[in-house]
Amino acid sequence: MTTEDKSQPAGERVLIFDTTLRDGEQSPGVALNIEEKLEIARALERLRVDIIEAGFPASSPGDLASVTAIAKEVRGAAIAGLARAVAADVDACWEAVRHAEHPRIHVFLSSSDIHIMHQLEKDREQVLEMARTMVARAKKYCPDVEFSPMDATRSQPEYVYRMLTEVIKAGATTVNIPDTVGYTIPEEFAEFLRQIQAHVPNIDKAVISVHCHNDLGLAVANSLAAVRVGARQIETCVNGIGERAGNASLEEVVMAIKTRPDFFHLSTNVDSTQIHRTSRLVSQLTGLTVQPNKAIVGINAFRHQSGIHQHGITKMRETYEIMDPRDIGLPAGAQFVLNKNSGRHGLKARLDELGYEITSQELDRVFVAFKDLADKKGEIDDRDLDALVSGERRAVEDVYKLDLLQVSCGNQAIPTATVRIVGPDGAPRETSTTGTGPVDACYRALNQLIGVPNQLVEYAVNSVTEGIDAQGEVTVRIEAGGRTFVGRAADTDIVVASARALMNALNRAIAHLPGERQEVMSNP
Ligand code: KIV
Ligand code: ZN
Repeated sequence: MTTEDKSQPAGERVLIFDTTLRDGEQSPGVALNIEEKLEIARALERLRVDIIEAGFPASSPGDLASVTAIAKEVRGAAIAGLARAVAADVDACWEAVRHAEHPRIHVFLSSSDIHIMHQLEKDREQVLEMARTMVARAKKYCPDVEFSPMDATRSQPEYVYRMLTEVIKAGATTVNIPDTVGYTIPEEFAEFLRQIQAHVPNIDKAVISVHCHNDLGLAVANSLAAVRVGARQIETCVNGIGERAGNASLEEVVMAIKTRPDFFHLSTNVDSTQIHRTSRLVSQLTGLTVQPNKAIVGINAFRHQSGIHQHGITKMRETYEIMDPRDIGLPAGAQFVLNKNSGRHGLKARLDELGYEITSQELDRVFVAFKDLADKKGEIDDRDLDALVSGERRAVEDVYKLDLLQVSCGNQAIPTATVRIVGPDGAPRETSTTGTGPVDACYRALNQLIGVPNQLVEYAVNSVTEGIDAQGEVTVRIEAGGRTFVGRAADTDIVVASARALMNALNRAIAHLPGERQEVMSNP
């Protein structure tokens, strides 16, 4: 068939279970607040995923609140919550998801000996009993129950078959086979699923799902191998984020199935035209940048550098493109550009098109920042707008705000920064410090003023757009109170962007570590 053959029948449906808000949120450095989680959940609703795993309600009061809020608001998709196989988790999960149109409780329990013996410190029979009773408990609350034997791919297969048989008897309607540590290989995984189908007598009573991690870069390949042999739910994260190397990427799974109906004879319910904007939103809110060459959503995914390719594309797009960029929601043709003559209305219209749900107060602030940036750099494209909106949103939550920053540096000078910030009491605090360079001087000053003990573990500057007048976007990662916090900021002056990014990370640390805040409040 040709790459654009639409004559293939749609085929059987594969359910897309999105866990960006649960496994994705477990990515190191990611800490989303409730508003950010709701915004991602709304984007997933528009994307038309079948199931949204909204969080792990028993893990923290914040997760309980955010899963509850999502269950109350989001319609269409089923809303799942994760629960360990213990009564308190199952009860908390139900408490949160019960408000959903279609609630789901997702119970998990390890099945590998390495987890059973060293983590759970139990034996196989005890674990089997926990799985059975907790699935039965979940079933009393909710007709839709999923069960995952964690680390299934490193478990004794016969034990997994027994566990699945028992949980299906107890009421599980979906059995999810996790490759928790990203260990399996496509052919091997497909064979494991075939054996599950052969050895679990009641398997026809449950949907088979897969949850693959990307430690060997095989999460998508393993997931696709699984649907070839009968799995009908794939667990994914937008941009492939998640624990360690992440999970199977939603956009890669969905576009593989859509692009190759001749091979898979399957379909999903996902509206692929929402992929691009959802990917950008998740990247902005999590602070996890998408690598330029990332399949489907990387900035280079539809760019052609070689003259021969460009020549081919201008004659016929299909010469070097297997997907139509419009299918993932990329605007056809040139990037949309605004400038200093663009009005509030034009800005709002473009932000709407990009999928931002922006309040009129937010728009007021973004418009001021937009005018300021347009004065400095002339043309403002979608990437600038992303940086502006996320900068304004992040700044709103900040307890400490940057008021003044002056830096002197040069090849004959001692880099010195004078910094003034305004704290929650509205009082300015100012200090001057020297450092090895302007950013170091500025960071020393901010750390003195804010007083949250932390270690800078990553500092990166990227250009938001091309050109010497481009904004520099700074991403920092700090460790404070045993957790990692990401800060991000963009400005045409990279020292200003650096200062704001550190302040953003410190403000996030303060919001999540109340003890540290005490120290801050008593700081002069
Ligand atoms: O990777 C894993 O095993 C999980 C389970 C909770 C499904 O995330
Ligand atoms: Zn996982």
